[in-house]
Amino acid sequence: MKKFGFETMSVHAGHEGFKPDTVTPPLYQTVAYPFEDALEAAQIFRAEKPGYTYGRWDNPTVELFEKRMAALEGTESAIGAASGMAAIMMLMHTVTSQGDDIVSSNRVYGGTFGLFETGLKKMGVKCNWVTQPESIEAWMAAITPKTKCLYVETPSNPGLFVGDIRALSKLAHAKGLPLFVDNTITTPALQRPIELGADAVVHSTTKYICGNASSLGGIICGSKKLIEVGIRQATIRYIGAAMAPMNAWLNLLGLETLGLRMERHSSNALALASFLEKHPKVVSVNYPGLPSNPYHRVAKEQMKACSSLLSFEIKGEMKDAVKVIDSLELWVHATHLGTSKTIVTHPASTTHSAMGEVEMKKAGIAPTMIRVSVGIETEADIISDIDQALSRI
Ligand SMILES: Cc1ncc(COP(=O)(O)O)c(C=O)c1O
Repeated sequence: MKKFGFETMSVHAGHEGFKPDTVTPPLYQTVAYPFEDALEAAQIFRAEKPGYTYGRWDNPTVELFEKRMAALEGTESAIGAASGMAAIMMLMHTVTSQGDDIVSSNRVYGGTFGLFETGLKKMGVKCNWVTQPESIEAWMAAITPKTKCLYVETPSNPGLFVGDIRALSKLAHAKGLPLFVDNTITTPALQRPIELGADAVVHSTTKYICGNASSLGGIICGSKKLIEVGIRQATIRYIGAAMAPMNAWLNLLGLETLGLRMERHSSNALALASFLEKHPKVVSVNYPGLPSNPYHRVAKEQMKACSSLLSFEIKGEMKDAVKVIDSLELWVHATHLGTSKTIVTHPASTTHSAMGEVEMKKAGIAPTMIRVSVGIETEADIISDIDQALSRI
């Protein structure tokens, strides 16, 4: 497809060539495809002829979604996965072997922490955690001769650490390593890691890309060598964590409004963060869009806007944070983010509880921290709900 603007590609990219053509993306809810004859089956299997073979590694609807995501992230290729965690697992399984290590910021989603700390360890792969990820020297010190990649989630869930993608990719490339970025929180509508030097991007599409909490999914966007040779021809065949066609279809519908939604998510979040920053019952607010935030400069350099995830700490103890959450009437209390509705979570007792108290403290997750994924509702309604909830403590 000719190079169009982001919003145009969000609606059209990858759709060409379907017969009969459709306005809404076509949903191919199938796992297998009849061959003309035995010769054609063999040719398609050997990749000598285009065609589809089996749903674990190819499906026309999933392919359309993959092509659209590759266009939006600016990569040669992309591959769907059953979930964000499946995408991260397949990426790591592809680039590491027993005895290797990886280097990652410790400011990552709790599931990613579990995978790197426990899951990869079982396969003989160690994660060297960078506990001061603001410092490039700390990243450099964590690299060993066995390191296979650098990994950064930026902005991070739930602490909103912002990694300097340009500086990290420079470091990675100087050491002959790839830099992988989890771009779930910003999406390519607000941040394009490949243009900043990253080598591959992963997403939990479950979040903003789908946009309405209706489907679980993940995607890895990167070079043809990594995606087609490394993952599609190998890893996904034996791990089997493929994206479901229905979920790819829901994601395609979500992508059509991604640019618009991310603008509203970001403006509502900035308004809420500014309100909370001045509130007498709030100790601190983590949101890179605030000029007072330590990551504001880097965020402005690499992000178009700061998306909708923010966290704040209230005065008092864990029981007060719980009381605030239980007093909310409009905000939805759930383990999720990136949907049209404003969602509130208590990370210390839910999403990040498996990290344990010591690791949570190192990652800056306090018992009084409340995480919010600001929705696209009316700004004044979002603010008045937390205002009344904070008045209860
Ligand atoms: C930044 C980030 N990456 C990855 C994941 C994992 O995604 P999924 O729940 O789709 O497996 C999450 C989930 O919350 C996340 O927030």
